[in-house]
Amino acid sequence: MDKVIQEAKDSLEKGDLVAIPTETVYGLAANALNPKAVTKIFQAKNRPSFDPLIVHCASIEAIEEYVNGFPEKARYLAKQFWAGALTLVLPKKEIIPDLVTAGLDTVAVRVPNHPLTLELLEKLDFPLAAPSANPFGYVSPTSAEHVEEQLGDKVSFILDGGKSTIGIESTIISFAENEPIVYRLGGISLEQIEGAIGTIAVKTHSSSNPKAPGMLASHYAPRKKVKITKIEEYLENTESLEKVGILSFRKKYDNIQNEKQVILSEEGDFAEATQNLFAGMRYLDKQNIDIILTELLPEKDLGRAINDRLRRASV
Ligand code: TXA
Ligand code: MG
Repeated sequence: MDKVIQEAKDSLEKGDLVAIPTETVYGLAANALNPKAVTKIFQAKNRPSFDPLIVHCASIEAIEEYVNGFPEKARYLAKQFWAGALTLVLPKKEIIPDLVTAGLDTVAVRVPNHPLTLELLEKLDFPLAAPSANPFGYVSPTSAEHVEEQLGDKVSFILDGGKSTIGIESTIISFAENEPIVYRLGGISLEQIEGAIGTIAVKTHSSSNPKAPGMLASHYAPRKKVKITKIEEYLENTESLEKVGILSFRKKYDNIQNEKQVILSEEGDFAEATQNLFAGMRYLDKQNIDIILTELLPEKDLGRAINDRLRRASV
């Protein structure tokens, strides 16, 4: 067995935390069947215990051990998109601790698409509970360096799998009610989901009692103020641009220094923009600026998920 996989496995079997790479974002993983280990996740992230975790397995067959029934549409989605950036919320079996699901009778499950993490999951005899590996409310990590910077001293091992290829969290679809509902827009687009199972309701709006705290209005946020605006107009009407940074979809702006600008994709490619989004936010957060100006993308495909994160970052 690969040395790094062995090391990750040993730590997890001891009940310790390991950061795992996935195609969406890095996860902060622990043995999902061990409440003591899961408690460490909440502590390390400073995450409120009412926010349930996603359980990760290597295959649909493995997931079937933890869910109580698999509605036809859910199974179809799983077959279509796993391993991949899709999380399904399904009725849970008793074996999943209440701590993982925040006492809900459903559990969120996903087969992530990353070779190292799939190999690790195959070698473990328990599933991994893993939220994104960032302090609660902050931007999700898309590289091992991001995890190291913020949670390095809280994990026993970081399995470095390179830069996340998708770069935004999974799309969450709940089967807790009669009809499926999208709870979080993410790496599988609404167009792809509807292409598979037809029209679906989207309920990602925040409320005071969110079903998924990823639905909280303010989330995925840099520490710097983020403002969604017509960038050109803002620049024309602002006297001092010294402390202004820009997170732009495709365009570069002349009157702002290069190092204070992040261009998500010059070609206007949604997948490229998605992959660069969180690293771009983290980069700008470190610059000597007071405000990050940004703009919404066209409201389609992955543009929807990017816009959702930009809106939450700007609250
Ligand atoms: O791409 C992803 O999904 C990443 C990687 C690591 O898999 N994970 C991730 O986890 O984004 P986290 O914890 O940051 O976001 C999971 C979201 C939370 O907003 C949580 O409230 C929701 O999933 N969730 C988990 N279990 C749920 C349940 N039973 N019902 C409703 N929402 C649930
Ligand atoms: Mg998260």
